[in-house]
This record gives sequence, C-alpha cells and structure tokens, in this order.
Amino acid sequence: MSGLPDHLRRPPRGMRDWLPPQFYALKHMEDVLSRVAESFGYRRVEMPVVEHFEVLAKKAGQEVINEIYYFKDKAGRDLGLRFDMTVPVARALSYSLDVPRPVRWYYFTKVFRYDEPQHGRYREFYQFGIELVGSSTPRADAEVLHVLADSLSAAGAVDYVVKINDRRAVDKMLEALGLSAYRDVIYRALDKKLKLPREEVVAVMTSGGVPRDKAEKIYDMTSEMPLQEAADHLTRLDQSLGAHYAKLVKYLDASTGLGGFRFDMSIVRGLDYYTGIVFEAFAGEYKLAVGGGGRYDDLLELYSGIKTPALGFAIGVERLMEAVGLHNVEKPLDYYIYIFDDEAYPQAVAVAKKLRSAGFSVAVELGEKSLKEAFEYILKIGTRYLIIIGKKELERGVVKIRDLQKREEYEKPINEL
Ligand code: HAM
Repeated sequence: MSGLPDHLRRPPRGMRDWLPPQFYALKHMEDVLSRVAESFGYRRVEMPVVEHFEVLAKKAGQEVINEIYYFKDKAGRDLGLRFDMTVPVARALSYSLDVPRPVRWYYFTKVFRYDEPQHGRYREFYQFGIELVGSSTPRADAEVLHVLADSLSAAGAVDYVVKINDRRAVDKMLEALGLSAYRDVIYRALDKKLKLPREEVVAVMTSGGVPRDKAEKIYDMTSEMPLQEAADHLTRLDQSLGAHYAKLVKYLDASTGLGGFRFDMSIVRGLDYYTGIVFEAFAGEYKLAVGGGGRYDDLLELYSGIKTPALGFAIGVERLMEAVGLHNVEKPLDYYIYIFDDEAYPQAVAVAKKLRSAGFSVAVELGEKSLKEAFEYILKIGTRYLIIIGKKELERGVVKIRDLQKREEYEKPINEL
C-alpha cells in the first residue's frame, strides 16, 4: 500500500490523538473538574506551552530536568516545554504583583515530559490543577485538600485515598538521626517506597552512603497511619508542626470528613520545589497516583524576589479517566436533512438554519448519496432525526421527520418546526 509508513501515521511516541468520542470524554472531565474549581472561586488561567529553560530548570530537581523537552529557537534562545503548570503560574505571578493575594487560579491543559512511555505514563498529557498563592495557614492547606477531594468525587472516583506527609517532618527526622547530609538520596528512596520492595528501597539509600541499619530504620519509621494520629506524631518531632496539623485535621474533618485521608511519612514527591505539606491521591484499584501536590513556599521568591507562600495540586487527567473507566462519550447528530435534488436546497438550508439557531446540530445531505446510503450513514454516525424534503413535501410546505430512536415517522409543517 502506498502512503506513509504506519509509524508516521501514528502520533509521536508517548502522545495520542483525541478523536471525537475520546475528546468528548476529555471535555466531560474538563467540565466536571472546572465546575468544582469555579465553585470554590478559582479562576482559569492559561500560559504558553513553551517556557524559558532557565525558569523551568530552577527548582524542578534533576529527575524532572532530565525529562524536559529542551530546544533552542532560531534566535538561539534556550527554551523548553512546560512539565507542569505550577512553574508557569509562579513565573506569571512574579510580574503580576497587582493581583490581590490570596490568588486562586486553576488550569486544565497540556504538559510535557520526556519520560519512558508506559501504561499511564505519557509524554504529552493533561493536568487539571489549582494553585492557592499567598497564604500559609492550615486553612489554606485544608482548602486545597478539600478541592482535591471534591474534584475526585465529582469525577466519579468516590473511593479516593489522599496520602499526606510533610517535608518538614521528614527533615526533622533526618536531623534527629544525623542524616541531613543524605537528604537527597533518602528522598529519592522514599519516593520509590510505594513502587519498590523494601530491599530495593533500602539499597537506594545504602548505595548513596546511608549506613544499612539507619536505612532500614528510616524505612520502618516512614509508615502509614490515620490522619487523626498525625498531629500527635508530628508534635513529637516539632511542636508547631504538630499544632498546624491539629488544626488542619479539624478543618478537614469539618469540610470533607477524614475518611479519604491517610498520613504517610514515605510521601516526599519528586519535584524539588516543595517545602511543607505534600500529598498524593489514589483512586480505587488504580495503581498509579492520579494526583499530587503540596506547598512550595520558596518558589515564587526565586522568580520575584518576594517571599510568597503557596500550595496547590494537579490531577493527571488521562489517569483519572482510566481509573473511573471514562473512555468515550458519543455525541450524536440531532438532525440529518435529506433532499433528492437542488430544487429543495433553499428549503433544506432554511430548515437547518432554524434548527441550528434553536441549538440543534444539523447536517444537510451533500448530494452524493441515495436515500438508502444516507440512511446507512446516519445510523453509523448516530443521529436522532432524519428529515426528508421531497417534491411532495415541498409542494405542501411540510417536511417528513423520521425519529430514529422511537422508530416513528410523521409530517410537520415547516412553519411549526
Ligand atoms: P506531579 O505529581 O508531577 O505534580 O503530577 C501530577 C499528576 O500528573 C500525577 O499525580 C499524575 O497523575 C500525572 N502525571 C505525572 N506524570 C505523568 C505522565 N508522564 N503521564 C501521565 N500522567 C502523569 C505536579 O505536576 C505538580 N505541579 C502538582 C502541584 C501543583 N504541586 C503544587 N501545585
């Protein structure tokens, strides 16, 4: 067969085409999730897909930096595709200083990571997320977790679990164990705790110089517990951290209940910009995290020079759709108008215009199909009504309407449509 070879007919590796049924499923997610964010007063933003490489690389961490799509433009500028929206939002706020704080923004858009594609891991994917900028209170933490929980529920993932931790708690623990110098490698190991067996997680730490007995101790100390126990646990590490979590638990209990939350000391997350609370969200049996987020109190200062506390989350939209089994949404045509020849064309377009202005989708026969062929076609694309305007109908000022759902046929005067 001639034409392009198969691999060129498909999108580039790790990317996908969104044909109408998949696109409308995505659009449904967008509508549902946007409604949640809007209902909390968040307002939508969009930023360029292309960013200054220097901005992207500032606080991403080596693992993410390795995944940036990097290139030079024709003028030699170092650019890259955004790997998330937190960084572009922080950059935009670094010059939009007149936007009143706290800022409540959300997004539903594409991000890019040059990762090894596999199930649930793409190179181009959608993130829905919010950023709450300008507050450091436990109420701000609770609000972001509340929006996350409501977003997951609204999308159909009612059996979500959000695992929460705090980087300050991990740092205190490392300090107490005299292991602060090994922070990076210990974080890297903990980040793998949900994915790898004990031996391998310990091995990541020992290969980075952490003594074996301490590596095992860290593994065992970073266990999971009900969120209600977190405050007591954290108070032992740091008084004020414990007090912050006591309040957070109280606020969350009042807003969503605590059923969907756990405290898990192994959650540290891969991105370098986090400074406080961090969390990952899971939905039902789906293995990979469907969302994640946390507090990044130093990131804005890196861009604007002004200390600005902030936190947010992002949901991986394709993963969430997979987790709730939303793949296709069919969007049938409302009306298909069939005419036999040009004589009825002015009448056909007039009827179409009327129906379109009433909000219906209408297609008019292009003049190549017999009535039988047109009928077969509209059954395939999904259509509610077939309108036929033949000679007889034209003379009498009526149209013939076939209701394909109810399998009925009737006539209607054109002026009553
Ligand atoms: P993240 O955990 O890197 O966080 O990404 C958020 C979510 O995007 C993940 O939980 C996952 O569902 C999805 N995701 C990540 N990588 C891929 C991939 N290669 N293919 C498909 N889905 C993926 C962030 O991006 C932070 N900016 C979140 C945040 C907002 N933190 C504070 N504010």
